Amino acid sequence: APVKTSESSTTGVFSRGRAAISARTLRTDRWWVPPATTVLGLAAFVIYATVRSFVRSAYWVPDFHYLTPFYSPCLSASCVTGSSHFGTPIGHLPMWIPLGFLVLPFLLLFRLTCYYYRKAYYRSVWMAPPACAVAEPHAKYTGETRLPLIIQNAHRYFFYVAVIISVINTYDAVISFHAADGFGIGLGTLIITGNALLLWAYTLSCHSCRHIAGGRLKHFSQHPVRYRFWTVVSKLNTRHMQLAWTTLGTLVLTDFYVMLVASGTISDPRLIG
Ligand code: FES
Repeated sequence: APVKTSESSTTGVFSRGRAAISARTLRTDRWWVPPATTVLGLAAFVIYATVRSFVRSAYWVPDFHYLTPFYSPCLSASCVTGSSHFGTPIGHLPMWIPLGFLVLPFLLLFRLTCYYYRKAYYRSVWMAPPACAVAEPHAKYTGETRLPLIIQNAHRYFFYVAVIISVINTYDAVISFHAADGFGIGLGTLIITGNALLLWAYTLSCHSCRHIAGGRLKHFSQHPVRYRFWTVVSKLNTRHMQLAWTTLGTLVLTDFYVMLVASGTISDPRLIG
């Protein structure tokens, strides 16, 4: 019979049919390091992104057309002059609504439902379970079959929105090739463009994208274009976790750099113009 402890007898390693071991885990290594690191990394990003999304300052550099991704596209009449590349259909927004409010929730949902991030926060934040052979604290497990987790199945639709947002990020990268007299390249241009490219790599390496490209095909030979696309996406897909973290970093770096230049803290080193 399973060993009875103060834990719920239906939980994790204490459940029926599991080995009768009273310890929560027999692991003696530092199994908690990866989940703890993940929590710290995700929390740092969420705090930074939330603060920056609300402050409404230093997000646009008019001289070089640098716009931070956290405010793109800026569709409100409250956006600073020049930063609204697609007009201002939204009118003025009160201070408590971020100027990027139309896009940020979708980006959040895209990442939240991402197959990699699920793995990351199921283990680290939700501890279900925190590591191999470490019991989870939850009494029951319903998987992704009910609300709210059933929403994870909508990941493909958030992917479609993310593609549109990647196009907008690309537009921002193109217009950042700007100087007072037209064409120009600065360090900011390289950072914004690098960020846009990596966002494309992350978005296209998505598991849903891979399935959209090559899923449900009976004969690759009859769909050479989809097969080629699927091959490329499959290669990128093996790097999905790295791209997930790298793009969190480049988003922060891009925003931080635009903030430093826009606030006049540093001046943008120019290569051309
Ligand atoms: Fe990670 Fe789709 S699986 S973005």
